[in-house]
Amino acid sequence: MSWRGIIEEFREHLPVRPETPVITLLEGNTPLIPAPKLSKQLGRDIQVFLKYEGLNPTGSFKDRGMTMAMSVALEKGAHTVLCASTGNTSAAAAAYATRANLRCVVLLPENKISKGKLAQALMYGAKAVAIQGNFDDALRLVRELGSEPGFAVVNSINPDRIQGQKTGSFEIINTLGRAPDAHYLPVGNAGNITAYWLGYQEFHQLGKATTLPKMVGFQASGSAPIVRGHPIEHPETVATAIRIGNPASWDGATAAIRDSGGLVDEVTDAEILSAQRWLAAQEGVFVEPASAAGIAGLFKQLCSGQLPSILAEGATVVVTVTGHGLKDPDTAIENSPGMVSCWARREDVLRLIST
Ligand code: F0G
Repeated sequence: MSWRGIIEEFREHLPVRPETPVITLLEGNTPLIPAPKLSKQLGRDIQVFLKYEGLNPTGSFKDRGMTMAMSVALEKGAHTVLCASTGNTSAAAAAYATRANLRCVVLLPENKISKGKLAQALMYGAKAVAIQGNFDDALRLVRELGSEPGFAVVNSINPDRIQGQKTGSFEIINTLGRAPDAHYLPVGNAGNITAYWLGYQEFHQLGKATTLPKMVGFQASGSAPIVRGHPIEHPETVATAIRIGNPASWDGATAAIRDSGGLVDEVTDAEILSAQRWLAAQEGVFVEPASAAGIAGLFKQLCSGQLPSILAEGATVVVTVTGHGLKDPDTAIENSPGMVSCWARREDVLRLIST
């Protein structure tokens, strides 16, 4: 049978009722791609897999949470869904709201949304509002507006979002036949690390995996509140998806890291961009800057000599690469070697490519 989307595939593990209307774009079932060159770089027989969430219907992992949040919002009789977003949540909310025939309002930090994501929110028909402030300001507004009659908040402060996103762990365990030894991922508002840990714990309790992975999260240095231990008032990073100073799921992230024996650390913008380029050029997997934070983290730990204390010989590592590279073409082009130009003559092209 062909894939039916995460609600039908994992119905018994999700808080849906038989009468819940299922709003789906057949999200999930994303590939777990082996990364042989990355594995070789790390050495010691470590095996790395990429959970390529950019292949979801709107190009990021947010679709997993949105199918749940939108289905429940519709069931509860909402007429408007509302979210703050650094871009991907708004794209997913807008698409799923369209499927549900609900009005969608997205609050976006002005001028800090990548072009691909903005294009999506606009094309799917959301009411997009540019907020003169950052994501944290927008989320504060959403909390205030959420109590308006008929409004449903579809940020990850909505527990249905976390429930949907935990299915990433289910798919990984189903594919590997076990849990990985470590799971690396970027951390912004911290919903995803919370969700993955929930998913791993649930399948562990059900006996579908006998072990649990260490959860290893990476924030961008200019937006690293959890690493620093306090909110960041003016977060900055080229990885706009994780430009967040006061994560809503801070406690969930802390619990995941502590209870799994994992860790949280930071990577610089330069490390993020170089990991993004490396992954595209070496493994053929193009992700947006934020999505490369986990890869940048692995390289950082390799270079600092920290890796052996985290990953044993022969360890299996999954890195969630959260969003598609085409989400942010401007940053990609700015940080690539660029094109060369020449006359439309065979010998000119041959001369150029030989150097
Ligand atoms: N990677 C991408 C591509 C994201 O869009 C986000 C978050 C994250 C990682 C971090 O995940 O917030 O669960 O820790 N994007 C949100 C948004 C904030 O509005 O699209 P998180």
